[in-house]
Amino acid sequence: MNVLGIESSCDETAAAVVADGRRILASVVASQVTLHRPYGGVVPELASRSHIEAVAPVVDQALAEAGLALADIHGVSVTQGPGLVGCLLVGFCFAKALAFARGLPWVGVDHLSAHLYSAQMTAAPPGFPLVALLASGGHTAIYFLTSPEHQELLGQTRDDAAGEAYDKVAKMLGLGYPGGAAIERLAAQGDAQRIVFTRPYLDKDSLDFSFSGLKTAVYRYIQTHPHAVEKSAADIAAGFQAAVAEVLIHKLLRAAEVKACPQVALVGGVAANGGLRRGLNQAAEAKGLRVFIPPLTLCGDNAAMVAAFGYHALEAGRVSPMDADVYSRHRG
Ligand code: KG4
Ligand code: ZN
Repeated sequence: MNVLGIESSCDETAAAVVADGRRILASVVASQVTLHRPYGGVVPELASRSHIEAVAPVVDQALAEAGLALADIHGVSVTQGPGLVGCLLVGFCFAKALAFARGLPWVGVDHLSAHLYSAQMTAAPPGFPLVALLASGGHTAIYFLTSPEHQELLGQTRDDAAGEAYDKVAKMLGLGYPGGAAIERLAAQGDAQRIVFTRPYLDKDSLDFSFSGLKTAVYRYIQTHPHAVEKSAADIAAGFQAAVAEVLIHKLLRAAEVKACPQVALVGGVAANGGLRRGLNQAAEAKGLRVFIPPLTLCGDNAAMVAAFGYHALEAGRVSPMDADVYSRHRG
């Protein structure tokens, strides 16, 4: 079954074709990063308009790269939420209209569930049960998964998401938007031991996160140390990154212990971070846990994870009604 996936929840317009929920035949991502960069963050109205321009060409490109025609598509899976409503509506209405016109089954899927499913798109997928950390620009949460669709929320951020903290610290250091990859590059030239930020554990047994205090600590350091950005930006980046990674890894491994689960996964945009990937692999190995982290192309927003996750619903005959609507916040 060839499923066309469409994703437009934030600032990436993406389309993909995935065969039988596993084989990625094409995955196209049109990023709006340059559009939003002058504003230091995503401007929702600009994002929606850009999705409108990009959605049809991106779908065409995905079909072309897959070497398929629309007639070869057997179902459509599209992100329904959470995300920016104006952005979601573009992909969602496009998918609905396409499915209606072609008489195809279609399903609206949860963006977070799709991110979590990306852990199953590795060479030797973990299957279930699985404890997974989703760390992105909008969310940071740990789940216990017993199937693609059954997720128990074990803990989540009480304030900023990890990626959001990365983006805000990057702004303080004058690195522009989005900041994750820029901080990682700068941190590689710094010394993580020189400026040690307090690790925001809340209490060590809690599986919740809080990154806003860490962000404020970086801000205070910059305010109280003259020329800190000019003189020690790399050390600040390294110190910040080490604090984030240590807490994310600790909580994920603690969750695996609580659930007595032998395998863990790391997904979402922040999972692209090399230091975090290496740190998790080392720490998990020391505890005898197996680790699953998707390739970089499946960490950030993409439609391959949307198509692959939606395949399971479509295959089981679960489709969405034509009057289904998008949702902006997590359905909890
Ligand atoms: O999953 P994603 O593409 O979009 C959301 O659903 O939010 O995640 C984007 C987030 C941004 O905050 C970005 O700064 C962060 O992922 N990110 C990184 C890296 N690459 C992207 N954070 C840390 N290190 C990276 N290499
Ligand atoms: Zn995302």
